[in-house]
Amino acid sequence: MLRITNLNAFYDNVHALKDISLEIQKGEIVSLIGSNGAGKTSTLSCITGLVGVRSGTIHYKGKNITNVPAHKIVRLGISLSPEGREVFPGLTVAENLKLGRYSKKENTITTNTTYERVYTLFPRLKERTLQIAGTLSGGEQQMLAIARALMSEPELLLLDEPSLGLAPNIVLMLFELIKEINKQGVTILLVEQNANLALSISNRAYVLETGRIALSGTSENLLHDANIKKAYLGSV
Ligand SMILES: Nc1ncnc2c1ncn2[C@@H]1O[C@H](COP(=O)(O)OP(=O)(O)O)[C@@H](O)[C@H]1O
Ligand SMILES: [Mg+2]
Repeated sequence: MLRITNLNAFYDNVHALKDISLEIQKGEIVSLIGSNGAGKTSTLSCITGLVGVRSGTIHYKGKNITNVPAHKIVRLGISLSPEGREVFPGLTVAENLKLGRYSKKENTITTNTTYERVYTLFPRLKERTLQIAGTLSGGEQQMLAIARALMSEPELLLLDEPSLGLAPNIVLMLFELIKEINKQGVTILLVEQNANLALSISNRAYVLETGRIALSGTSENLLHDANIKKAYLGSV
């Protein structure tokens, strides 16, 4: 579904991504793990057209989407739940969701079906449709960020650090929902600093280290890899 080949990206003269190659098959959950500053968000930003690609290519469903602008990427079926959630704090839950729908042509029937689908996944949001997003808890804001990303009916969902700053019980609940979204047919690229957690729900994973893919494999194998354990899982 997605194939990144020898991708290089820079911020001025900072070489943030160095020859990144990765691929995602339809139906998979693939995680991209690595510590702070490794290049995880930059990788997502290249896919979504928010950061320019210097060299290398990104193909989505066989189509070259390298440096295609962000608004067109959403229309192609790729949607992002950004790091730090970035909900619109002064708008209600329903208004935030509506903004996630902007890329779709107005069609009341399909729009209502999408709201129903999203509210079924996140009943907590349904109870709070008129609540101002800035007054939601961190976990609810994370749900809203993911729900907003689903409003464009993506085939590929990019999740940037959904567990960040949330209590462990909320994180577990959220990750069950991520699995459910995947079961409903959405392919997922999951970016996480929490390697253990990401490996526990993904099929395969890539490990980023200072802008390079250091390791990749099935999540099962990486969970048992001694180097990964030492570097990322807090045990030997
Ligand atoms: N807007 C920016 N301007 C300059 N450097 C940046 C910018 N965003 C990220 N970087 C740098 O690029 C590298 C990768 O950052 P990032 O992709 O945000 O990592 P991660 O998401 O894995 O924490 C880091 O060295 C970071 O300092
Ligand atoms: Mg990041």
